[in-house]
Amino acid sequence: MKALITAGGRGTRLRPITYTTNKHLIPLGNKPMIWYAIEKVVAAGISDIGININPEETEIQKTVGDGSRWGAQITYIKQTGGPQGLAHIIKVAEKFLDGDSFLFYLGDNIVLADLKSLIRRFERGKLDCLLALSHVQDPERFGVPVFENGKLVRVDEKPENPASNFAVTGIYVYSPAVMKAVHAIKPSARGELEISDAHTYLLQHGSRVGYQEITGWWKDTGKPFDILEGNSLILDQLTGQDIQGEISPETVIEGTVRIGKGARITGASVLRGPLVVGEQSILHNAYIAPYTSIGNNVSITNAEVDHSIILDGVSINTNKHIVDSIIGNNAQVTDVTLTRPSGHKLIVGSNSSVEI
Ligand code: TTP
Repeated sequence: MKALITAGGRGTRLRPITYTTNKHLIPLGNKPMIWYAIEKVVAAGISDIGININPEETEIQKTVGDGSRWGAQITYIKQTGGPQGLAHIIKVAEKFLDGDSFLFYLGDNIVLADLKSLIRRFERGKLDCLLALSHVQDPERFGVPVFENGKLVRVDEKPENPASNFAVTGIYVYSPAVMKAVHAIKPSARGELEISDAHTYLLQHGSRVGYQEITGWWKDTGKPFDILEGNSLILDQLTGQDIQGEISPETVIEGTVRIGKGARITGASVLRGPLVVGEQSILHNAYIAPYTSIGNNVSITNAEVDHSIILDGVSINTNKHIVDSIIGNNAQVTDVTLTRPSGHKLIVGSNSSVEI
């Protein structure tokens, strides 16, 4: 079996971060999101992996490499013409898939479960398609399975009135029969080849479509708050302390805390895990609350940072409490009292969101 992982798309809901960073490279627990997808696929016993990318992409290839880090072999597949829907990705990957069954994994999804049981269910049931379902509060954001007399009959994409509280997650297993479906369906009203339409096609043309509820958490990191939640879920999995930097005697460290090489925690700082601090970062008199990821070369002075993701090169110097925030590479956050005239001075990129 092969795997096909997505790393293209537009990432419009995560702007402005995605103006400069591919969504799949946003770090969760200081590790690029797509690495978790690759780890899951490899743990399921798959080593022949295709990654779908936008035609102009270069960073994904640099960050992921040829797969040898995971003992896998990675083929990059350019989505000709750019993002045109999930079913379009499968069409474009036809040559790579070469008539094999495959696990299709959306690279912006993170999941706790081991995927082996999904593959087992697919193989034992001799299925053409296995959908991994998850119970959610907001099914209208997803593809929603519709059951009639206990039988799956179709999948509605982002329905206004969802027929169930299940979402079709971004993890699917297919036989080569899916190829016929992705070639047969037509673009939806939003101009995309919808994967839900391919599933409905399979259901209506006699293919064997099964489903399995996924165990443990599953997160689709489409929106900023989802990214923060994803970061928390990943940090929750950390165990044991790993402190490689220098820590002042006044610093208090509680819970699971990881501190990278060359980092320095000075003054009376308090670090309450789970949290990670990257290499060469300097924290002075800072309070870092649980579920915070701080990247490399970050400087934090006096601030309290809580349930946030701070990317590389950020500088924060303020007495304020920063919460539920994602701060992009090299951004600066300064105390209003440090410069004159006082007042909130904002140089903020398009589509940013600031609460003052
Ligand atoms: P989405 O989250 O549905 O779309 P998006 O990433 O473009 O984000 P937004 O809606 O905020 O603009 O995509 C799900 C996954 O599939 C994600 O990993 C991106 C990827 N993708 C592609 O690789 N090609 C595509 O044509 C589409 C639509 C998505």
